[in-house]
This record gives sequence, C-alpha cells and structure tokens, in this order.
Amino acid sequence: MSKVLQCCQLSKSYVQGDIETKVLNNLELSVDKGVLLAVVGSSGCGKSTFLHLAGALDSPSSGKVLINDIDIHQLSDKERAKFRNEHIGFIYQFHHLMMEFNAQENVAMPLMIRGEKPKKALLAAKEMLDQVGLSHRIDYRPSQLSGGERQRVAIARALVTKPSLVLADEPTGNLDSDTAEQIYQLIRSLNKTAKTSFVIVTHDLVLANRMDRQVKLVQGQLRPLSDKSDQALSPTSITTKSASSIKDNKSQLSERHV
Ligand SMILES: Nc1ncnc2c1ncn2[C@@H]1O[C@H](COP(=O)(O)OP(=O)(O)OP(=O)(O)O)[C@@H](O)[C@H]1O
Ligand SMILES: [Mg+2]
Repeated sequence: MSKVLQCCQLSKSYVQGDIETKVLNNLELSVDKGVLLAVVGSSGCGKSTFLHLAGALDSPSSGKVLINDIDIHQLSDKERAKFRNEHIGFIYQFHHLMMEFNAQENVAMPLMIRGEKPKKALLAAKEMLDQVGLSHRIDYRPSQLSGGERQRVAIARALVTKPSLVLADEPTGNLDSDTAEQIYQLIRSLNKTAKTSFVIVTHDLVLANRMDRQVKLVQGQLRPLSDKSDQALSPTSITTKSASSIKDNKSQLSERHV
C-alpha cells in the first residue's frame, strides 16, 4: 500500500549553550494512506517536536520525512511552503489564529494563499465552520471566542484545503465531550469520503483508541501502543505540561503559520 508519511532515522536535538537535549532519536514511522494514527506519550516526550518535523515546520537534526513520497526537508523554502499548503493540514496545540482577522477570514486564509478568489475562499470557510459547529461565530475575532471555539476554528482552517494528510496536536484538548465527539465524527467522515489520513497527538486515550492505529513516543522513538509491557500507558501516567514546553509553546504564539 502507498504511504502518506514515512520518517526514516529521524533525530532532533535542541542545543542551548553547552546543553544538548536529544528529543527524537532515530525515530522510524511508516503510515499507509487513509489511516488514522494516534500518537500518545507523556508531557515533554517530544510529540509536538515530532509533529512539527513531520509537518515541515521545523528541520530535523538528521533523518528524513517523506510525505506522499516527497522528501520535504530537501525542498527549498518556497517549494516547502507550497507543498504544505497543498498537502498538509496542521492543527497546532495552541491554535495560532491571526488575532486581527475573524473566524471566517482565518479559515479562508490558506485558500487565498493558494490563489482562490476571496469570495470562493470565504464561502468554503463558512461551510467548514458550519461543519465544526461554528456557523453562528463566523464574524467573531479570536479574542471574542472561547478556547474550544478557537480550537475548532483552527481545525476548520486545517481541513478547508482538503489536504491528504492532517497533523493534529491535541485537537480535542479544549473541548467538552459532545463537541469532541462532533470533531471525531468529522475526522471519520473526511477519512471515509476523501481518504484523508490523520496523525493525531493526544492525551485522550479514549480518542486514541478510536483511531485505526496507536503508537507511543518513548525515549525518542515510536512503538506500538499494544505493547502491554509498557506500564506507562495508563491514563494516570499522563502528567501536566512541563514548564519548559509551556514556555516553548508560548514563544511559538508569536509566529504565524497558516
Ligand atoms: N525550541 C526548543 N528549544 C529547546 N528545547 C525545546 C524546544 N522545543 C521543545 N523543547 C524541549 O523538547 C522536549 C519535547 O517538547 P515537546 O513540546 O515536543 O513535548 P510534548 O510531548 O509535545 O509535550 P506536551 O504533551 O506537554 O505538549 C521538552 O523537554 C521541551 O522542553
Ligand atoms: Mg506538545
């Protein structure tokens, strides 16, 4: 079967002064087209780091990422931006919406970057917002939306381009169970109708178990979640966010990624 995502010997270290933090260590992953994959792991283990490399938002220290057989880190910056816009939908752990634009404009932005006419892009955005239950909030700016509403706008923005691969970092983290169920049904339906593949990072083991396949990030590598010898899988092992990763994610808020 053809692959939507392949990671080969993927490593990432952060260096600050004399200190090197090795986060990913020769990680291997191969995901078939049309699969829903859940990635779990304790806070600070490197899930967002992995997703950022897979989504071409950051570069690996070594190793490769292939999306639809294209080595994304070999592309020029311009080619990579175009590739991301055409093939990847990215849902950030902390939404990254543009505060001066309303929900509809935020969702329409990737289509306009692609060259769609504004009228068409705004209509598609409106339809997508309807699908995430936000048709009554299209002209609200992010500061006027609740945390869960912002997260749903970010989900709509990632899905509006009909990408072949969606990378989602805790997409239901801020949602109540009914809204989370609505998002899960949307994911399933896109997977069924458009064969969209999803890689979903989540602390929600119920959501993880509803995906087609589950892996856990441990010591910089991915292993099947069905590995029962791994005692760290119980929900009680999930800890709150480390101060360092919160700091890191706050710094990302100043960046703009559409
Ligand atoms: N830019 C950076 N510079 C230095 N260290 C970093 C950087 N980004 C992440 N880290 C460190 O890498 C480790 C993994 O961070 P990451 O955000 O990938 O974790 P995570 O698994 O997504 O955690 P969480 O579940 O809390 O979101 C953390 O120890 C973090 O402090
Ligand atoms: Mg994270």
